[in-house]
Amino acid sequence: MGVGHIEFEPLKTLYLSESSHDVAIAADLLRRGELVAFPTETVYGLGAIATDARAIERIFQAKGRPTDNPLIVHLASENQVHEVATYIDPIAFELMHSFWPGPLTLVLEKRDRIPGIVTCGLTTVAVRMPNHPTALQLIQSAALPVAAPSANLSGRPSATTWQAAAEDLDGKVAAIICGKPCIYGLESTVVDVASHPFRILRPGGVSLEALQARYAKIIPYSQNSTDPSTTLANSPGLRHRHYQPKAKVMLVDRRKGNLDPPLESLSSESYYLGLQPPNSSATFRKVVLCESVESYAAQLFDVFRQADADNARVILCESVSEVGIGAALMDRLRRAAS
Ligand code: TXA
Ligand code: MG
Repeated sequence: MGVGHIEFEPLKTLYLSESSHDVAIAADLLRRGELVAFPTETVYGLGAIATDARAIERIFQAKGRPTDNPLIVHLASENQVHEVATYIDPIAFELMHSFWPGPLTLVLEKRDRIPGIVTCGLTTVAVRMPNHPTALQLIQSAALPVAAPSANLSGRPSATTWQAAAEDLDGKVAAIICGKPCIYGLESTVVDVASHPFRILRPGGVSLEALQARYAKIIPYSQNSTDPSTTLANSPGLRHRHYQPKAKVMLVDRRKGNLDPPLESLSSESYYLGLQPPNSSATFRKVVLCESVESYAAQLFDVFRQADADNARVILCESVSEVGIGAALMDRLRRAAS
């Protein structure tokens, strides 16, 4: 099947279960150069074999992804890291031991067998081992590292359910593995460990506090992000529009005693998402109250997509403290509101 087929004719996407039988089919499709969406603990990924440049090209086409935004390579074991990276700093190894499998992506010096299209020409490669049995089984059966961005169209909220992946990618990918909704619902933390001191390029599932407990000198994302020259060069993905629903996202900070925005800007076409109930008398079309910051993070992208499907005009979101997963949640909320 030529590349032209993928570009011009819709594919009949296969919907697979998480059974060993179906995951073996998915691995086989990957090995034949096809794209497969699969669940991870963070968000759904859109996978292709990392050493297959043609398959990687299809990822960029299917997502409409800018060609200067590099992909994360997913592994089934710590040992496999040597297949994709050259030198690994001993402290980077310690981070790997502490947090893999899990939502920590490490940026390392790339091996030549990873084609330049994966890293958009960078000499480094981003790598992680997901903490999800289906993802691990898929990568292991494929017997090669699997490059996978989030399984959404570029610019849209990441897919945290198989239905969201289907909404964006049906007819564009060979298969979607239909697992459960993702536990974290936000993407992995990306840490550059290819230069010293290590720095956080994207806040995510592993918190700053947890990383600092292992490596005190780490440069926090907040510090990093105020220096645009280093951030843009080191984490190209951050310059692109991200996580934005069609509805306008507005933030309200209860801790500053902020009241909800004036009634006229809200309406029955508005959604509310937060930990505490809304503080205005406006009638929201839907109010989603979360019992913890973790559950707020897990529901965020799904609520964004629900609001869009419902043609909501505004999503009013409560701000949270930037500790633990709260830092990543506030990062996504600010990007969505910008
Ligand atoms: O949780 C996750 O990380 C999910 C799941 C599927 O694993 N994946 C994900 O991929 O969020 P994506 O493509 O949406 O985001 C990849 C991020 C981008 O911000 C990109 O700039 C950064 O990783 N990245 C990739 N390679 C890099 C590199 N060599 N140097 C610096 N940043 C890199
Ligand atoms: Mg993404």
